Amino acid sequence: MKIGNVTLPSPFVVAPMAGMTDTAFRRLVKRHGGCGLVVTEMVSSEGLVRGIDRTLEYAEYTEEERPVSIQIFGGDPEKMAAAARVVETMGADIVDVNMGCPVPKIAKHNAGCSLMREPEHAATVIEAMVKAVKIPVTVKMRAGWNDGERNAPELAKRVQDAGAAAVTIHGRTAQQSYTGLADWDLVARVSQELSIPVLGSGDCIDPQQVIDRLHAGVSGVLVGRGVLRNPWILAQAADIAAGDPPRTITMRARGEFLLDYLELLLNERVDEAAGFRHVAPGTTDHDASAPDRGSRIASDGSRVARGREKWVINKIRALCSWYSKGLDAGSHLRIRVNSAQSIAELREIVDEFFVLASPAVPV
Ligand SMILES: Cc1cc2nc3c(=O)[nH]c(=O)nc-3n(C[C@H](O)[C@H](O)[C@H](O)COP(=O)(O)O)c2cc1C
Repeated sequence: MKIGNVTLPSPFVVAPMAGMTDTAFRRLVKRHGGCGLVVTEMVSSEGLVRGIDRTLEYAEYTEEERPVSIQIFGGDPEKMAAAARVVETMGADIVDVNMGCPVPKIAKHNAGCSLMREPEHAATVIEAMVKAVKIPVTVKMRAGWNDGERNAPELAKRVQDAGAAAVTIHGRTAQQSYTGLADWDLVARVSQELSIPVLGSGDCIDPQQVIDRLHAGVSGVLVGRGVLRNPWILAQAADIAAGDPPRTITMRARGEFLLDYLELLLNERVDEAAGFRHVAPGTTDHDASAPDRGSRIASDGSRVARGREKWVINKIRALCSWYSKGLDAGSHLRIRVNSAQSIAELREIVDEFFVLASPAVPV
């Protein structure tokens, strides 16, 4: 599949998920295979342009993740165009516009899903961005604002005319938030009506569902919560697409994923080669300005991350609230992880739950 001039090695995509799909997580998913594109957590256009937002690091990515799409939000055409230029300068493959976020903090600023309520203005935003950059500009939207305004078909056409290279539709309205079910019939219909690739998003929890959705007539499928529950879901979907049975994932492998994620988070920015991390201009140098984000020399002479423990523990807790779903005694794991006070304790819990308890049981 191609989006503009960017070839995706597979039609399966890690959906953007604020707070969850950071660069460490995306790298690990990518390593397991099947993944054609990753999208960053959404980042503010205003912040990117001014170079002073606390959340600029959401735009970070590493070479290993390519092709990479950076998702931005905002409602001002000029600022969105300028932010797209920043994204292009960062070397990203694609710039994606968030027209799906229903959170009032975002939507009230003429951004996120509220752009769907102003189709003409939304098209102006896309037009300005397309003029400003050579990389493909894509849009991620919902079915509409509410049941009375399910205008994804109309808006998708408008942004196509404005120069968008692809559209993703999460088949729920903003009002639905995450309740009910995604309307994949609507997604497939829009896909038929447009000449650019249309990707769908919503409710793929097992790899066969990803394949079924693809066959229902879209160019690609984004998987969000399903990847948080099972980071191998894209690799398993690729297995099925290749005519093979989906690979089995042992409990041990699942435990190792959590431990690998923990290590990557803990060692972020510690001894990284120059250029390893593509960052937005103005991203704070944490080593200099925030001592709790830097590194120190341990008593044995090794360099270790310091002060990040609390942040890492919270990240692991957040992932485990999804990761534990559908596992035997998953709630037990959640409770233990939520009460862990140290990284050492977390490692012990993961070892006990995934590795020692049932070393060879596939899930
Ligand atoms: C925790 C969380 C954070 C999300 N953050 C974003 C975001 O930053 N940008 C975006 O376009 N969609 C975001 N979404 C929506 C997902 O990308 C996806 O469209 C939606 O969850 C439906 O797909 P799923 O059922 O596979 O999760 C988020 C969803 C979740 C659950």
